[in-house]
Amino acid sequence: MPTLIKNCRLHIKDKVYSKNILIKQGKISKITNKEPKAEKIMDAKNNFVLPGLIDCHVHFREPGLTHKEDFLTGSMAAAKGGITTVLDMPNTLPPTTTIAALEEKRRLAAKSIVNYGFHFGATNDNISDIKKAKNIAAVKLYMDYTTGDLKVSDFETINDIFKSSKITIIHAEDEHVKNAVEILAKSKTKNRIHFAHVSSEKELKYAKLNKIKKQVTVEVCPHHLLMNERDIQTLGAFAEMKPRLKTEQDQKVLWQGIKDGIVDVIASDHAPHLKEEKEKANYPFGVPGVETLLPLLLDAFNSNKISLPTIIKLCCENPANIFKIKNKGFLKEGYDADLVIVDLDKRQAVRNEDLLTKCKWSPFEGKILKGWPVTTIVNGNVVYDNGEIFDIKAKEVQYDR
Ligand code: NCD
Ligand code: ZN
Ligand code: ZN
Repeated sequence: MPTLIKNCRLHIKDKVYSKNILIKQGKISKITNKEPKAEKIMDAKNNFVLPGLIDCHVHFREPGLTHKEDFLTGSMAAAKGGITTVLDMPNTLPPTTTIAALEEKRRLAAKSIVNYGFHFGATNDNISDIKKAKNIAAVKLYMDYTTGDLKVSDFETINDIFKSSKITIIHAEDEHVKNAVEILAKSKTKNRIHFAHVSSEKELKYAKLNKIKKQVTVEVCPHHLLMNERDIQTLGAFAEMKPRLKTEQDQKVLWQGIKDGIVDVIASDHAPHLKEEKEKANYPFGVPGVETLLPLLLDAFNSNKISLPTIIKLCCENPANIFKIKNKGFLKEGYDADLVIVDLDKRQAVRNEDLLTKCKWSPFEGKILKGWPVTTIVNGNVVYDNGEIFDIKAKEVQYDR
């Protein structure tokens, strides 16, 4: 059933156009000034239409931790946030570090209403599984302790992991960023590394050491951009994640990194934990984020901190290019019809009771944001529209490798 979305404002190569988008069989069939025939007509009312966001760092907690989140609730939250593809992390129970665990996760993820892919976890001794793993986004390496306890410390092993995987996404804090860059340089491999959740001036500086060779990419998260260590005083455990919130100076440097093009990706690091868990003395680390990622960035756009083309680059195009995701990340004829209509003028507060994530809280609760997604389309199907979710199953992404 062809669908025509009329009156779309689009950024194409930094210019703004008003166009109609024709969707056929889940793909963008035409981006046109004409009005081709369609069975279903939608009106974007001159709102901006962006490629659906690709969030390359989420924890949907399935299997084993589904009291915190699962692929249905996580994906509903993502859809509401304008995210049409997620790449899920391996620190589940069991961790996604074996072929059997990957296949099981694949089966469970079929309930997702946004498209999905998987990062495969590295351990001290699973190189043979890494080599066998099919259709994965990247290998995830933890160089520091965090939720899931998948830490790998031995530099020789890390070197082997870099050599075995086209792209390794790394949780590295502080000096470990430098260590990783040095191991990569010594290894002489052409494979790439992607630093997850870079949080400080120091980490960014270390990651940058190797940027010239284009083998290193950098991801930052909204919480590190928009919060700092002072928020821990007011929010306590609800502002505790790995890496920890840093100083105002670190925040400034991360924003500058976005302006200078040193930051490649903004991802949510959606890491839901229940309120009850956060209220315990030995609370777990992490904050939810898929529902607030785009609203926070649109709000930042409205206060002149970031441009729309930069949001599109860092949240759609670059994740597609870095992980080589097929047919996504761009509004182009022939590409998958994954898109989000945003109302740049809509003002609304983040409210815990509105959230679709199972954990039902956000560190941004109470903040009034200007700029919200209103309609999200995945594979040509409307999965979110003005507060309403439509449970239409999505697909696993494929990669160009
Ligand atoms: C993440 C989690 O809870 O899974 N926690 C976090 O604080 N970021 C793990 C991680 O991304 O390190
Ligand atoms: Zn991490
Ligand atoms: Zn994470």
